[in-house]
Amino acid sequence: MTDQLIPTRRDFPADDPIFALNAEAQARKAAGESILNATVGALLDDSGQLVVLDSVMELWRELTALEVAPYAPIAGDTAFLKALVRRHWPLLQSPGAACATPGGSGALAISLRNFLEPGQSLLTTAPFWSPYATLAAENGMHLATAPWPLAGQPLDGAAWAAALGSLMKRQGRVLLWLNDPCHNPTGRSLSPADRATLADLLREASALGPVTLLLDFAYLDYTLDPGAVAAALEDYAALGAEGRVLVGASLSLSKSMTLYGARCGALAFPWRADPVLQAALTQSCRGTWSNCAKAPQALLLRLERDGKAQERLAAEHRHWSEVLAQRAAALDEAMVAEGMEALHWTGGFFVCVPVAESTQVCAAMQREGVFSVPLPEGLRVGLCGLRVAEAPRFAQILRQALAPR
Ligand SMILES: Cc1ncc(COP(=O)(O)O)c(C=O)c1O
Repeated sequence: MTDQLIPTRRDFPADDPIFALNAEAQARKAAGESILNATVGALLDDSGQLVVLDSVMELWRELTALEVAPYAPIAGDTAFLKALVRRHWPLLQSPGAACATPGGSGALAISLRNFLEPGQSLLTTAPFWSPYATLAAENGMHLATAPWPLAGQPLDGAAWAAALGSLMKRQGRVLLWLNDPCHNPTGRSLSPADRATLADLLREASALGPVTLLLDFAYLDYTLDPGAVAAALEDYAALGAEGRVLVGASLSLSKSMTLYGARCGALAFPWRADPVLQAALTQSCRGTWSNCAKAPQALLLRLERDGKAQERLAAEHRHWSEVLAQRAAALDEAMVAEGMEALHWTGGFFVCVPVAESTQVCAAMQREGVFSVPLPEGLRVGLCGLRVAEAPRFAQILRQALAPR
């Protein structure tokens, strides 16, 4: 025990729980067992290799010394911020108040420090990407949730109104992290009607105190229906342009460019070019990581100038979206064949099987060599690492684990 460590920092797990599960699955595989590892959070091809997009890697190899070595500006390169925001909203002329961040995680972290006071609660959906809770805790904050709709069901407006109302009453402000479209872990997006309901509730709440909606766009490029994603972005743009709710986006090159390890992204408020907000973001950057990596920012600028590379990237995104769609369809078919409900994936790297007592179910499946991630709402299954041929085994072992013992 390190006495120097302050008492509140002495009680953490040795490893991130998801990485620990993945490590166990890999160790048992290396020891010769037949393992199905659906804990992985990065896109793998059918031979288990990490997918790295060729169009991106070619641009990476072209980077010159001066695109890699110097410091980037503290808040990030303005042209990079504009190019990244315009990947999502091509008509925008400015990124608004914005800064470069080390991935979406960096954007999420500094949104906490700028829109909530220590001790207050962030609002997000249940289920959520579990590091959201770690990010909140590291910033001395709590996390409140409202339910993500179940497949085929509408958003529970009453539960959302109650969550927003209680936060507004308690702390006079709301910060909502919304991982839509292509939600991790359910693999489903909100419907247009859900989005309209939520927008109305946020508008109402904004009459009582400041409301910030931060869209976490980790997986947008991997979708069954790019048209539906574009329509969702338009809906959010309309809400942002209205100005009552502060709408921002956490953007990341991790999945979109398969540049997970380059640690690049941005926090942007495209409809709010407020110098006071900009100064706050820049201050957070300086006081946290100083400057972000220059190389991935330079890469995005090369991509912006290179129409051919953009076409190749779009084709790669379509290809891998189709692979994910095939994996999702195979899993749905296998689930139904075993007498369970289909999961109806529409985007992202994961689906979530709603089960009670997920920790026990997960442990029972692990004994049979099948690994997924237990969440309070069910099992997170990484389609990104699951082969079509593995789907029947997953469903079969799940059914066995769920059978009354
Ligand atoms: C929902 C969600 N948000 C944000 C992130 C952050 O990723 P990064 O910091 O690599 O951009 C992830 C990564 O898995 C994620 O799943």
